[in-house]
Amino acid sequence: MPFYNTGTMLAQALAYLEAHRERFLQELLEFLAIPSVSARPEHARDVHMAALWLTEHLRHIGLRSEVLRTDGHPVVYAEWRARDPHAPTVLIYGHYDVQPADPFELWDTPPFSPAVRDGYVYARGASDNKGQHFAHVKAVETLLHTQGTLPVNVKFLIEGEEEIGSPSLSRFVSAHVDLLRCDCVMISDSAMRALDQPSLVYGLRGLVHLEVTVRCLAHDVHSGHYGGLVQNPILALAQMLAQVKDEQGRVRIPGFYDDVRALDPEERAALMRAPYTEADLRRETGALAAFGEPEYSLAERRGARPTFEVNGIWGGYTGAGLKTIIPAEAHAKITCRLVPYQDPQRVAERVADYLRNIAPVGTEVEVRFGGGSPAVLIDRHTPVTRAAMRAAAATYGAEPIFELEGGSIPIVADLQRQLGVPIVLLGMGLPDDNVHAPNERFSIRAYERGIQASARFLLEMSACCAGGDRRNGG
Ligand code: BES
Ligand code: MN
Repeated sequence: MPFYNTGTMLAQALAYLEAHRERFLQELLEFLAIPSVSARPEHARDVHMAALWLTEHLRHIGLRSEVLRTDGHPVVYAEWRARDPHAPTVLIYGHYDVQPADPFELWDTPPFSPAVRDGYVYARGASDNKGQHFAHVKAVETLLHTQGTLPVNVKFLIEGEEEIGSPSLSRFVSAHVDLLRCDCVMISDSAMRALDQPSLVYGLRGLVHLEVTVRCLAHDVHSGHYGGLVQNPILALAQMLAQVKDEQGRVRIPGFYDDVRALDPEERAALMRAPYTEADLRRETGALAAFGEPEYSLAERRGARPTFEVNGIWGGYTGAGLKTIIPAEAHAKITCRLVPYQDPQRVAERVADYLRNIAPVGTEVEVRFGGGSPAVLIDRHTPVTRAAMRAAAATYGAEPIFELEGGSIPIVADLQRQLGVPIVLLGMGLPDDNVHAPNERFSIRAYERGIQASARFLLEMSACCAGGDRRNGG
C-alpha cells in the first residue's frame, strides 16, 4: 500500500526540477572541475577535495554527511532518516574518483574545465561517475525540498577508489555493515542503449590484473655485438602473448573456461530482444571488424564470456632516432574479465602458470598478481527490480531491456555478499559518452532524466517495499 500520494509528490518534484535546471547543471560543473584522479599520487589532495565538496553539498541539501577514512582514499557517507519507522532504506552507491585524463592533447576543451556544448557537459568524470551519482543527489534534494521529507530512508556511499579497483572499500564495508544496512542498493554507473531505451544491467564482469616481466639479460647490450647470440625479451614476450588466443579469439589457457556458466534459453532470448549489432560496435569504436568467439553473439561475448586482454606493453628504446640495443627486459599489463562463478585468484594462477610454461629458452618470467574482483549476477525477478523497471519506463518512455555489462564495478560483489539485499544497476549514461577516453561527456538531457528516474524510483520503493517482508526481497 502506498503511504503517500505519489502522483502529487511527483508533480511537485517535476516542477522543482524544471525550476532549478540551470542551478543543477552549474553545481555538476563545479563538482567536475575537481581533478579527483585516484590513480595519480599527485592528485591525492584533489581526490580529498572532491570528497569534502560532495559531503558539504550533501549537508547543504539537508543530509547528515561525513567523510570517512579508509586505508586509501576516503568515502563519503550520508544519510537521511524518514519519519516512518517502517520506511525501507535505499543505499545509493557511486564513485567520485575519475580515470586519468591523458592524453590531454586529444581533448577539445581541458578535461577539468567543464564545458557545455550541444547539450552535453564535457569533462573527465561527467558520465563516469560524477554526473550519474550526482543525479541521485539532486533527486533527493528535489523530494526533500518539495515534501519536507523523503518517502524512504536514503544512504549514500560514494567512494574514491573505484577506478583503481576499490582496494580499500571491501574492508570498509565489512567494518561498517551496520551503518550500511539497507533494503536495496541502487547504482547508476553504466549506460542505457539510448535516451528512449533504458537498460537494467543484471550482470557485471569481474576482473583480475597481472603484470608480466620477461628478463633475459643483466643489462641492455649492444645489438650488433650480441645480436643473434642471445634471446630478445620483447620478442619472447610477444611470442608468449601471441599464444594466448587462437585465430578466432578463444583463450587457449587450460581450464580458463572451467567455471563459466552456459546461459539458459530464456536468458539468451531476453538478450536477443534488443540485439547489439556489429554496426553498433563499429560506430561506437571505429573497429574495422568484430573479433571474438564466433559461436557467441556480441552481447554474449561482452557479458557472458571471460576474456584476456593486453592493456600495455613496454620495454627497450622508443625515443627519437635509433639506439641499437637488445633490452634486458620487457613488460606487459594484462587484465582478464571474468564472468559469474569464476574465482579471480584461480584464474590468475592459471594465466600465470600458462605463461611460465610457455616461456622460451633464455627467459626468466615473473608474473605479479595485482588484485581482482569477482563478477556479479543479479536476480531479475525481485520487487526492487520491478520498482526500477516502472521508474525507468515512466521516465524514458519504454520498458527497460536487461543487459549483461562487460565492465566491472569491483565492490558490487562484496555489497551483494555482505549486505545480502537486492541490487539495481540502472544506467543513466549513453553509449557514446566516451568514458575512459578523451572528450568524455554526459548528455544534459540524460542528467535531467536521470534525476527524474531516481525520484520515481524512490517513490516506487516507498510504495512497493514499505514494512513487511522486504528483507527477503518481498
Ligand atoms: N562505470 C564503469 C563500469 C562500466 C564500464 C559500466 C562500461 C558500463 C560500461 C566503472 O567506473 C569502471 O570503469 N570500472 C573499471 C574497474 C576497474 C578499474 C577495476 C573497469 O571496468 O575497467
Ligand atoms: Mn570507470
